Amino acid sequence: MGKAEIGLIGLGTMGAALALNIAEKAGRIAVWNRTTEVTHRFHADAGDLAPRIIPTESLADLVASIESPRAIILMVPAGQAVDDQIAALAPLLDSQDLVIDAGNADFHDTNRRAAAGLPFRFLGMGVSGGEEGARHGPAIMGGGRAEDWARVAPIMQAIAARAEDGTPCAARMGDAGAGHFVKMVHNGIEYADMQMIAEVYGLMRDGMGQDAASISEVFARWNRGVLQSYLIEISAAVTAARDPLTGQAMPDVILDRAGQKGTGRWTAIEAQHLGAPIPVIEAAVMARNLSARLPERQAGQALFGAAPGPVSIAPERLEQALIAGKILCYAQGFAMIEAASARFGWTLDLPQIARVWRAGCIIRSAMLNDMAQALAEDPSRNLVMAPFFADLLRRAVPDLRAVVTAGIAAGHGLPALAQGLIWFDMARTARGTANLIQAQRDFFGAHGFERLDGQDAPHGPWGLKV
Ligand code: 6PG
Repeated sequence: MGKAEIGLIGLGTMGAALALNIAEKAGRIAVWNRTTEVTHRFHADAGDLAPRIIPTESLADLVASIESPRAIILMVPAGQAVDDQIAALAPLLDSQDLVIDAGNADFHDTNRRAAAGLPFRFLGMGVSGGEEGARHGPAIMGGGRAEDWARVAPIMQAIAARAEDGTPCAARMGDAGAGHFVKMVHNGIEYADMQMIAEVYGLMRDGMGQDAASISEVFARWNRGVLQSYLIEISAAVTAARDPLTGQAMPDVILDRAGQKGTGRWTAIEAQHLGAPIPVIEAAVMARNLSARLPERQAGQALFGAAPGPVSIAPERLEQALIAGKILCYAQGFAMIEAASARFGWTLDLPQIARVWRAGCIIRSAMLNDMAQALAEDPSRNLVMAPFFADLLRRAVPDLRAVVTAGIAAGHGLPALAQGLIWFDMARTARGTANLIQAQRDFFGAHGFERLDGQDAPHGPWGLKV
């Protein structure tokens, strides 16, 4: 067999799936895993694709098996493992070889690695779509030099998901950490989308006493409308599933304690650094953190009684509330990307990001087509200002308001939906209340303020006693 076009390190779930995808759609691939047995088992299980896979037993072997200049994908856990792998590869590679970190790296780490003067070329690449996506078509968000991306773009476009119009969902987002940054915001939106779906699920389950099977029907119906998306589709599937052990609905036997690997939290932290308001995502991260505190919640219920009481809301209104929440959340996410673009000098292409997210990734949805179009009309305009989405919001916000007020009045925690509404109300109020904040700041700290009439006003007359 000739040499491989590309190599891959790390045959965990995602790495193995990506390697098979490459072998199937893009060409020969050499693979290496720290545990040799894993490499051989992977090769033995590869079936028809085995002849296109070169299993290797050492890093030197791997490097020798790849056509020069080489491209090697790292699929190892984010953080120290990536630095260790880079250090191990350094003496083996030439300056024209290219290492691609395809894990869920913190974009700051990718920036640091890209600036570190590595003895080879380096790309950071966000890959979304879970195991299934990695195997059959993920969304790919590249970051690094344009010429380095161009070298591997044909492979990435061959293995990526395709949008309905046939465009591959793989593109270079910008320099250095730009790909991992966009993937991070994708994950923040993923958290928020999931949380909002869970909130309406809670209203149906606890407020209206609907069982999982009937909730599943509602989700399935929504999946044929404006909300059509992977996350609504899988919500319909998981609420329809039965537990083989007890025969109960599957969600009813699952503990309400959600894990997280950190990308949602990174999004919230980064948004604070950027001064970008993303309250729906922040609320979703908060909800996950609170979900993890099960003993505290149990003690709270014992002391104060369970909160959620009955509500009566038509499913059509819940659907509209979710439509509004989704638009508001994405508008915040895209605005955060725009803020980062300016801060980091990346010139991130918002319509292109929306296009890449149309297929393959976890947040893929029909609405992203419209978002791509609205952003293409004017990338610097907030999504809520685009006529298409402004129209949707005019119709949907009254239902979001009705759902949030009814839900909160009955004791349902609806943090993400409520934060969407609060942001919307504040973001469309020309005269807010920060004039009082400015007066307070000037009073205790002489921070100054601007006057409405534009006159000079060094400070307020705070010395006067009233
Ligand atoms: C994806 C997912 C994937 C994974 C994340 C989030 O786009 O394929 O976002 O990257 O699900 O690690 O997981 P947590 O919920 O554990 O943070």
